[in-house]
This record gives sequence, structure tokens and C-alpha cells, in this order.
Amino acid sequence: MKQAFGAGANTFAKLSLLGGGLFTVLILGLLFVLDHSPYTRGPIGVAVNQPVRFSHQLHSGVLNIDCRYCHISAEQGAYGGIPDTHTCMSCHSQIATYSELLEPVRTSYATGEYLVWNKVHNIAQHVYFNHSAHVNAGFACETCHGRVDQMPLVWQHQSMTMSWCLECHREPERFIRTYDQVYTFGEPAPENQIDVGLQLVAAQGIDVSRLSNCSICHR
Ligand code: HEC
Ligand code: HEC
Ligand code: HEC
Ligand code: HEC
Ligand code: HEC
Repeated sequence: MKQAFGAGANTFAKLSLLGGGLFTVLILGLLFVLDHSPYTRGPIGVAVNQPVRFSHQLHSGVLNIDCRYCHISAEQGAYGGIPDTHTCMSCHSQIATYSELLEPVRTSYATGEYLVWNKVHNIAQHVYFNHSAHVNAGFACETCHGRVDQMPLVWQHQSMTMSWCLECHREPERFIRTYDQVYTFGEPAPENQIDVGLQLVAAQGIDVSRLSNCSICHR
């Protein structure tokens, strides 16, 4: 019988099956590496340089300015939000007016051109995140961003990988606080965190069983 395919075809088919398997393994491996690679999200614990050396350590830690003065949208909307230079000038039109460090702030204020800050956090485009849903349910800035009140320049504190999100989505009782603790820093969790946490989760009406659904974060 005349063969429609050459003698090598069978071997080729076998090879490509094997190849397909290998290819899938490679792709999965690549996704795994990407999920654990700092390059997709920016490194943890490395301070990001900024056009103006704005220090959270000074403004939040020493001067004790409330996070909401500059990031009210973390409570009201999806994004944390970065303040414009009008917010800075509410003080710096009187304070440290001759500081050279503040020159770009004054220029931006005078020209109306945005001061462009370098992003510290950057989760993948295909992931949906919403600040107000977390903050109002009792999850603290500190839990996800660390001791911002001690950072001269902000760095990323958590990996922001899918497994990090899921660690809390599966057991929110380990991290939840009462709302009045959302803006506090450096206070140790109570010894009975799990008991208190389970009560708070129930009181907030959080349905933990739905929090691992893919469609919550991938819409
Ligand atoms: C006086 C205004 C001001 C206050 C108060 C303030 N911030 Fe900021 N925040 C900024 C500015 C400006 C930036 C952008 C520059 C930078 O990243 O340092 C920023 C950046 C950040 C970032 C990184 C954003 C990114 O690029 O991913 C986080 C997280 C943050 N702030 C959290 C906080 C928390 C938590 C508090 C309260 C402890 C706070 N901030 C108080 C002005 C402020
Ligand atoms: C449950 C974790 C979580 C909590 C709680 C949280 N954040 Fe964030 N924050 C994130 C993630 C994730 C990003 C990155 C979002 C992105 O890249 O789109 C982020 C980004 C930011 C940014 C950069 C702007 C933006 O939205 O991309 C600021 C500013 C910020 N957070 C401030 C705050 C402040 C202030 C609080 C407390 C009121 C807070 N965050 C609480 C997880 C959290
Ligand atoms: C609620 C008041 C207030 C706000 C709002 C504020 N600052 Fe400040 N800032 C201060 C005070 C007070 C100092 C300390 C001044 C000193 O040491 O003489 C300071 C110091 C600074 C310095 C150091 C100046 C120097 O030469 O040492 C920089 C830079 C700065 N702020 C940037 C900013 C930026 C950028 C914003 C807006 C995102 C901002 N500040 C918002 C009160 C404020
Ligand atoms: C420290 C705990 C914690 C971390 C970390 C966390 N979450 Fe959540 N998240 C929750 C809880 C609890 C809820 C449910 C809140 C409720 O039902 O009131 C929630 C709700 C959500 C929702 C639903 C919001 C809505 O509109 O209903 C989204 C989306 C979400 N999280 C995305 C993420 C992503 C993406 C990450 C990681 C980048 C993340 N979360 C990290 C605790 C956390
Ligand atoms: C709590 C939020 C959350 C839930 C629930 C979630 N994911 Fe993700 N997912 C993420 C985040 C955040 C990333 C981005 C990770 C990164 O940038 O490293 C991601 C990335 C991914 C990626 C891209 C590969 C990678 O690792 O970067 C795939 C594929 C994926 N998720 C599939 C799923 C599937 C399937 C489910 C349901 C079983 C699911 N996710 C549930 C938050 C979530």
C-alpha cells in the first residue's frame, strides 16, 4: 500500500506528541517561574527612587500625618491614589519654602504639570484588585505594605503573587483587624488573633468560600 505519509511520519507524529507534552510542561514551568520571579512585579524590599525624596518616615512616622490626607481613595475606591502637588503645597507653600528638594514640587504646582512618581507596586494587568473592599473590611495598610511609616523611600513589602493573595483569601481570620486598627502600625496581633479573627470575619459577613474563585480576581 502506498503510504500517504513518508516512513518518518509515524516517528514524527510520536515526536510531536512528546514535543507537545514537553511544550506544555515548558509553558507551565515558565508561568511558574514568572509567578515567582521578581521581574514581573518588581523586587521586594528595594526602595524605589523618586523625582522628589518624599519621605513617609518623616511625614507619616514623625509628623504623624494620616495616610488618608494623601491616599483617601484607598478607602473610597479601587486605587490607593497618589496625591497631586496641590496636596503638598497645602503645607509647603509655608513650610520649607526654600528647600531645593522641593523645587520640582513648586514647578509642578506653578505649571500645573503632573509630577510623575515611579511606581512601587504593579500587579499584572489581568488581575483585578480593589482597595476599598479590603480596607473597609478591616485589612490594614501595614498588612500588605509593611512599615510605610518607617520608609524613607517606599519599597514593596509583599510578593503580590497569586499565592500571596490566596494565602489570605483562604484564611482571612489570620489578618483581619477591627476598623480602628486599619491605620495603625507596629502593634503586635493579639494572642487570640484566630478567635477574634473568626468573629470579625463573621461580623463582616465575609463569605470565605467564594474568595478562591478565579473570577473574583480574573474578571
Ligand atoms: C503627605 C502625603 C502622603 C502621606 C501622608 C502618605 N503618603 Fe503614601 N505616598 C505619597 C506620595 C507622594 C507617594 C508617591 C511617591 C512614593 O512612592 O514615595 C506615595 C506612595 C505610597 C505607596 C507606594 C505607591 C506605589 O507606587 O505603589 C504606598 C504603599 C503608600 N504611599 C502608602 C502610604 C501609607 C500606608 C500612608 C500612611 C502611613 C501614607 N502612604 C501616607 C504621599 C503620602
Ligand atoms: C489587601 C492588601 C492591601 C491593603 C490592605 C492595602 N493595599 Fe495598597 N496596594 C495593594 C496592591 C495589591 C497594590 C498594587 C495595585 C496595582 O498595582 O494595581 C497596592 C497599591 C497601592 C498604592 C499605589 C497606587 C495604586 O493603587 O496602584 C497606594 C498609594 C496604596 N496601595 C496605599 C494603600 C493605603 C494607604 C492602604 C491603607 C489604607 C492600603 N494601600 C492598603 C494591596 C493592599
Ligand atoms: C501636613 C503638612 C505637610 C504636607 C501635606 C506635606 N509636607 Fe513635606 N514636610 C512637612 C514638614 C513639617 C517638613 C519638615 C520641614 C523641615 O524639616 O523644616 C516637611 C519636609 C519635606 C521635605 C524635606 C525638605 C528638606 O529640605 O529637608 C520634602 C522633600 C517634602 N516635605 C516633600 C513633600 C511632598 C512631595 C509632599 C506632597 C506629596 C509633602 N511634602 C506634603 C509637612 C508637610
Ligand atoms: C490580608 C488579606 C487579603 C489579602 C492579602 C488579599 N485579599 Fe482580597 N479580599 C480579602 C477579603 C477578606 C475579601 C472579602 C471582603 C468582603 O467580603 O468584604 C477580599 C476581597 C477581594 C476582592 C473582591 C472585591 C469586591 O469587589 O467584592 C478582590 C477582587 C480581591 N480581594 C482581590 C485580591 C487580590 C488580587 C489580592 C492580591 C494582590 C488580594 N485580594 C489580597 C482579603 C485579602
Ligand atoms: C485572590 C486573587 C486571585 C484568585 C482568586 C485567583 N488568582 Fe490567578 N492571579 C492572581 C494574581 C495576583 C496573579 C498575578 C501574579 C503575578 O503577577 O505574579 C495571577 C496570575 C494568574 C495566572 C498567570 C500566571 C501567573 O502565575 O502569573 C494564571 C494562569 C492564573 N492566575 C489562573 C488562576 C486560576 C485558574 C484561578 C482559579 C483557580 C485563579 N487564578 C484565582 C490572583 C488571583
